[in-house]
Amino acid sequence: MTQNRLIQAAQEARKRAYAKYSNFYVGAAVQTGSGNIFQGCNIENASYSLTICAERTALFSAVAAGEREFNHLVVATENGVSPCGACRQVIWELCGDIPITIVDEAGNTQDIRSSDLLPHAFSQQDLTS
Ligand code: THU
Repeated sequence: MTQNRLIQAAQEARKRAYAKYSNFYVGAAVQTGSGNIFQGCNIENASYSLTICAERTALFSAVAAGEREFNHLVVATENGVSPCGACRQVIWELCGDIPITIVDEAGNTQDIRSSDLLPHAFSQQDLTS
């Protein structure tokens, strides 16, 4: 089942996190419209603000590879937390309203949608007068 493959991919990506300052390991996996799966992990920096989250790493890798449609995103952490505010905005921009699965280290899952994570989103329609 695709959801299980995506969960596995996110948990696997989490192991590759470069999180030497926070020690908070995050993995993400997104399935694209063409059926491909792209993985991401958080990548930190000694200049802390340059850190990039796992969700954005996965989505930006997919976009750079030519993908433009996204079906489902999985985010894996130790304790099953949901995406940060910056990632919510990027998810909305690139994916629109898609299902998101949040998984913890024990494999407990929570299913939510991006519209629940970012109600009243700012988006490209707001730029047109
Ligand atoms: N982090 C993510 O990768 N995704 C999120 O949605 C929340 C935060 C990362 C950024 C940083 O490397 C670490 O978790 C602690 O904030």
